[in-house]
Amino acid sequence: MRKILVTSALPYANGSIHLGHLVEYLQTDIWVRHQKMSNNDCTYVCADDAHGTPIMLKARELNITPEKLIEESKKEHIEDFADFHIEFDNYHTTHSEENKMLSELIYNNLKDKGVIERREIQQYYDEDEEMFLPDRYIKGTCPKCGAKEQYGDSCEKCGGTYSSTEVIDPISVISNSKPIKKKTEHLFFRLSNYEEFLNKWLTDNRVQKEINNKMKEWLSDGLSSWDITRDRPYFGFSIPGEKEKFFYVWLDAPVGYIASFKNLCDKNSTDYFESWKKGSEVELYHFIGKDIAYFHVLFWPSMLEGAGFRTPTSVFCHGFLTIDGEKMSKSRGTFIKARTYLNHLNPEYLRYYFASRLTSKIEDIDLNFNDFIARVNSDLVGKVINIGSRCARFINKDFESTLASKSNNQSLIAQILAKKNIIQTNYENREFSKNIRVISSLADDVNKYIDDEKPWIKIKNKENSESVHEVCSDGINMFRVLIGYLKPVLPKVAQNVEKLLRCTPIDWYNIDQLILEKKIETFKPIITRIDEKSIEIIKTEARED
Ligand code: 2FM
Ligand code: ZN
Repeated sequence: MRKILVTSALPYANGSIHLGHLVEYLQTDIWVRHQKMSNNDCTYVCADDAHGTPIMLKARELNITPEKLIEESKKEHIEDFADFHIEFDNYHTTHSEENKMLSELIYNNLKDKGVIERREIQQYYDEDEEMFLPDRYIKGTCPKCGAKEQYGDSCEKCGGTYSSTEVIDPISVISNSKPIKKKTEHLFFRLSNYEEFLNKWLTDNRVQKEINNKMKEWLSDGLSSWDITRDRPYFGFSIPGEKEKFFYVWLDAPVGYIASFKNLCDKNSTDYFESWKKGSEVELYHFIGKDIAYFHVLFWPSMLEGAGFRTPTSVFCHGFLTIDGEKMSKSRGTFIKARTYLNHLNPEYLRYYFASRLTSKIEDIDLNFNDFIARVNSDLVGKVINIGSRCARFINKDFESTLASKSNNQSLIAQILAKKNIIQTNYENREFSKNIRVISSLADDVNKYIDDEKPWIKIKNKENSESVHEVCSDGINMFRVLIGYLKPVLPKVAQNVEKLLRCTPIDWYNIDQLILEKKIETFKPIITRIDEKSIEIIKTEARED
């Protein structure tokens, strides 16, 4: 039995979960459910990312305390995730005792190692608001191409990156005033000390090819020290021993992975450090989006290494979500919140569709609504679910709800079961789209078998009812295996099928046990077709959200 600890990136506590976020949580949840079906000791933790300037400002705008904002956000996030059947073993917040203790511990260890440096820097300061301005809160003319209205760190027009002090005619986004340059003392983490470590970490095959190449590029460019300080006012943890200085949110955010796990361990009276100590045998995987790779493959492993903790086994990156081939957009009605979707559509449609698009690559994935409707209605409902619904109805109506005592087509059952290993391997390798293709093609084979046998005609003609009974039972058994194959993707459907068939929860060990001579429940619809009208309603609501 493997011991595995899994995380998804921590969502910020100042906004709702949307379909873009869900790519990652669904990818992770499917992977974790596969591990649990393998009887591995797999723990999936997450938390709200509760600190930083945007959260402080959002609370101010709403006229509530940041504490109130993050509490409400956490509640909303937990409900959204649960309704998409994303099953965390623990969901915490970075604004917690555990995280404060661990962030301080890691910082102090790094300080003891001599890799924290102190330096005076100049930053833009908003005199009206009495605060230093993060790059994103400065707008001005791009120093590289002259484009107006660009952010303080990068230009959307030419793609150039620069320091905010280079921006021409800077303006504070918060007060619209002209900021002044002001000196401030900051603490930096000396990343260059970890170049050798990172080079070694990289050669151990821990990241995907594209990220590996990026890391090589970053490493050969040389690593600058990382500013881990923010001045007041800031919503975050104070830096121990410093006056009015706070940890930058990106320092304590990944520590939130450990903190959430510790919070869980404390509830169970187990030792969190067993999994986080150097040389731990527990596998540690972080699922993240490609935009935050830098933090997870450079800063985070270096912080852990420096502070004497274990480092991640692997970091798995995914691409962004596009909708109908374009970036999500409010005006097009494609910036869709999780809740807006849930108000109109079954979460398992999206789980199935994302699974049909997800691979181990970092490519963006597209949610094409026409394809979404076709895949769910024709492949999932029309092929897979159809096997169960028609066979269960015959068993209910014509065979006293009891399955036959033997199979009529062992070779087809064997052929379906022969795919188990490849299905497991594909889940393990995050090649979910391959599995959906394999399962869909197996469903074609089963439907063909039933169509060829034509039980409905034979039943009507009262022909050879024993073999007809076996064909319908075969259909049920084959359906059970296919639903088992889909169980990481469709947990609720699988649960309903288990209820219908009165069978023990399907896992990778019992999936090949046929159910014979057993009574089943009366069939109730498991999942119905998508009503196309819902998509337009969702888009209209998304424009108004
Ligand atoms: O990019 C984001 O949405 C961050 N809140 C992710 C943090 S992941 C981890 F490092 F905490
Ligand atoms: Zn530019």
